[in-house]
Amino acid sequence: MKIIAGNWKMNGSRAALSEMVSALQVVETDNKVILCVPYTMLCIDSGRVALGAQDVSVHEKGAYTGEVSATMIAETGAKYVIVGHSERRQYHEETNSIVRQKAATALSAGLTPIICVGENMDEKQAGKTMAVIEAGVRESVPSDISGDIIIAYEPRWAIGAGLTPTEAEIAEAHKLIADTLDSMGLSGTPVLYGASVKAANAADIMSIPNVGGVLVGGASLKPDDFIPIITSVK
Ligand code: 13P
Repeated sequence: MKIIAGNWKMNGSRAALSEMVSALQVVETDNKVILCVPYTMLCIDSGRVALGAQDVSVHEKGAYTGEVSATMIAETGAKYVIVGHSERRQYHEETNSIVRQKAATALSAGLTPIICVGENMDEKQAGKTMAVIEAGVRESVPSDISGDIIIAYEPRWAIGAGLTPTEAEIAEAHKLIADTLDSMGLSGTPVLYGASVKAANAADIMSIPNVGGVLVGGASLKPDDFIPIITSVK
């Protein structure tokens, strides 16, 4: 069983999500399908497809105009929330420490955080890929875990760019993440790969050791692109 998660980013509409959900109801798969959508689309009946948000406030409630708490997300019926996506880290200066707080808030509301880590192009070129990934896991994962977490490895330089690391690079990164999680007492935590996943490369990527599924951006927006990724693996 693999986890196939879509990240719609700031795309789509309630109508598009209803269409996607109906298309997904008839797909035969044992894989776990999750769609992380904008807050405004969270309250729809999504059948067997689990919904998630894409960010959460570090605060529980109060005078934080524009923010949405983990409890509010959980109240919609959503089960997941992405934290520390590279676009949040890049455009909103989210650090590992903020991401850890967000993951902890999500867990306390009963949500499963999908915690993203990954290197940008400067870090890659400076040979810091492994150090950035390991620090991302050690510093973004809360210490007292009371519930499930998911890690997503997203090489930032490859997102939306049609670029992917080599299979050896993905294998090395996922091995490091699995070993790091082991040393933190979190063995068995699913680790997804995300960046330019499409039907043509999904099965190969998911056959790499320690890859528990994929986090898909652009190719999760349309049933014709997303469904072949879901059915590409058993
Ligand atoms: P793309 O699949 O569009 O490269 O996006 C990846 C991503 O950021 C998923 O969270």
